[in-house]
Amino acid sequence: MSNSRVLFLTLFLSLALTTFAEIHNYEFKVLEQAANRLCKNHRIVNVNGQFPGPTLDVRDGDTVAVKVTNACKFNVTIHWHGVRNLRNPWADGPEMVTQCPIQTGGTYTYRITIQGQEGTLWWHAHSKWLRATVYGALIIRPKAGSSYPFPTPKVEFPVILGEWWDRRVISVLRQALFSGAAPNISDAITINGQPGDLFRCSTQGTTKLTVNQGDTVLLRVINAALNQQLFFSVANHKLTVVATDAVYTKQFTTNVIMLGPGQTTDVLLTADQQPGRYYMAARAYATAQNAPFDNTTGTAILQYKSATSQPILPQLPFYNDTNTVTVFSNQIKSPGEVSVPKKVDDSLFFAVGLGFFNCTPGPRCQGPNNTRFAASMNNVSFILPKKTSILQAYAQNIPNIYTTDFPPVPPVQFDYTGNVPRGLWQPVKGTKLTKLKFGSNVQIILQDTSIFSTEDHPVHIHGYNFYIVGQGFGNFNPSRDTPNFNLVDPPKRNTIDVPVGGWAAIRFVADNPGIWFMHCHIDTHLVWGFATAFLVENGVGELETLLPPPFDLPQC
Ligand code: C2O
Repeated sequence: MSNSRVLFLTLFLSLALTTFAEIHNYEFKVLEQAANRLCKNHRIVNVNGQFPGPTLDVRDGDTVAVKVTNACKFNVTIHWHGVRNLRNPWADGPEMVTQCPIQTGGTYTYRITIQGQEGTLWWHAHSKWLRATVYGALIIRPKAGSSYPFPTPKVEFPVILGEWWDRRVISVLRQALFSGAAPNISDAITINGQPGDLFRCSTQGTTKLTVNQGDTVLLRVINAALNQQLFFSVANHKLTVVATDAVYTKQFTTNVIMLGPGQTTDVLLTADQQPGRYYMAARAYATAQNAPFDNTTGTAILQYKSATSQPILPQLPFYNDTNTVTVFSNQIKSPGEVSVPKKVDDSLFFAVGLGFFNCTPGPRCQGPNNTRFAASMNNVSFILPKKTSILQAYAQNIPNIYTTDFPPVPPVQFDYTGNVPRGLWQPVKGTKLTKLKFGSNVQIILQDTSIFSTEDHPVHIHGYNFYIVGQGFGNFNPSRDTPNFNLVDPPKRNTIDVPVGGWAAIRFVADNPGIWFMHCHIDTHLVWGFATAFLVENGVGELETLLPPPFDLPQC
């Protein structure tokens, strides 16, 4: 070959490598199967007989088609948590928000596009409580030809934290929704589906990661727990945080990380200790007062090759150690200066937390003092529509499914984190959305309330990443707090764990048209109504317009 032909070929090949994104095809079969944990057998819903389900392993820029077949007796949908799916909420997944469920025997192919995202996300069922056992990792690697902003680790390992019930979760939920009381807490915290050998009958299945001395290890930690914020630590090893929610961060080193349900954190560790066995452990961070929680410790084992010693446990913070959480979360920052919206077009203030519906004493009135538990945002307790999904109603102009009068500020102002009068504990039910103009700069103050109890809430927005420009305790005070906002290098995430008895300020540009759900990622709070959605209008060009629905979209 002549020199110029070689040059041409090399050029062509490198171009092909960097510009041709891949298409991945996956098949998910949702099944119900017997599973054995804690010496007990019961049926769980899973994907392809795997628990956790299959890992999706893709690159930025790729397209992923997941054909989901529902072979279990429950309705199901799958959500790609954190994937922006620009202009395409049809692939997002929340049941009755962007689609009708896939019914038993039905199929739907989610066509997911990954654009400008790198790191760890995950997928989970978005129907009822099925996500308790229907979840898996979604790993997004840099485009071909580019690399991580840190030396390539020798070993990579997903660490998916979860919660396990000794009963079928669907029955746990059904019982709670019937009685109006809080649902039973879980029986074990799990790592990659296993509670670990501190539990009975669990030695065999315990998750293990074998490393060589000196290896660098990337742990992709995902909190897939249904209802519980979790601390995570590895005995004798420091963790260097490099990304959260598939966004790189300024790197920092810590002994412990905390993740709210929905959040992910990528950490590097070096196997530089005495060859031995070390527990990786997860345990609750629980802030609600007088509320029971699962106080067990889930473990996995990091073992140096051929080590057989008894594993060492890490020291985990106490269950309500908010100080440790604050120190940790204040260190999460973007790697450098980022372009945060400086002027705000839509300024929203959402008071969020629990509530109660008064009821007449009886089997369906088992909440505290003749009530049923509820949760709300700005006093609205969200109701999912029954006839069709919000997105289908929006795209096809079907009336009476939702309204766009979600209050931009609480209908009544009160001392949110103080002693809230009982008269303000009862929300109203509705399917209320906020309409946003395409391209608008949005700021939301999320304010925890002390109704029943203050509590930290992991608030997630679908289809968006947002900058967390401020956080604090007590009531948000605009004149005191706004000047302290970090508009230089705030972290960017898809889920914010709003501080207990405090507030968080987030900003984003409404650049993704369609219907996008926003809710507490504690599923108990979600089913109680802690949710709302955005209707982001189309912009002008084709690239600013909602895509048409796919032909196989499930109908109700
Ligand atoms: Cu990961 Cu609507 O949730």
